[in-house]
Amino acid sequence: AYEKLWLALALVLIVGFIGTITYGAAGVGIEMIDDKGGTVDPATLDEHPKFGDPGVEKTGENQYDVYVVARQFVFEPGTTEPIRVPEGSTVTFHVTASDVIHGFEVVGTNANTMAIPGQVAEFTVEFDEPGEYGLLCNEYCGSGHHVMEGKLVVM
Ligand code: CUA
Repeated sequence: AYEKLWLALALVLIVGFIGTITYGAAGVGIEMIDDKGGTVDPATLDEHPKFGDPGVEKTGENQYDVYVVARQFVFEPGTTEPIRVPEGSTVTFHVTASDVIHGFEVVGTNANTMAIPGQVAEFTVEFDEPGEYGLLCNEYCGSGHHVMEGKLVVM
């Protein structure tokens, strides 16, 4: 009978550890809320209503959609022009890639996803305070991988 008790105790400890790790992963002033996604045809990305001209779109009061295309070796938007969102906004990112697999990481936060051709990674982030964040590609994508970066400005 004691064996079952120890097993239950061990389970409680494991669940506790996982909870602590998950809780600790959240960054300062930025919180990743959910993580889902969809699909898109990479061959016709240029004609896509959103990814054809990716950027920031206001969808409601303090609500924004941000469409990002990753390609060798830039984020559009993000690299030539920073992604700008206001403080206190809830932002849903929709991220895809047009050529090979890339990464999209908001440095110093737990907002991080793979950018895969044909797939749309979606996650929602709350930006509670103004600041500047770096964007990084963290999947090897070719000769320019190490310079593939960008900027996100919370105004
Ligand atoms: Cu894009 Cu590494």
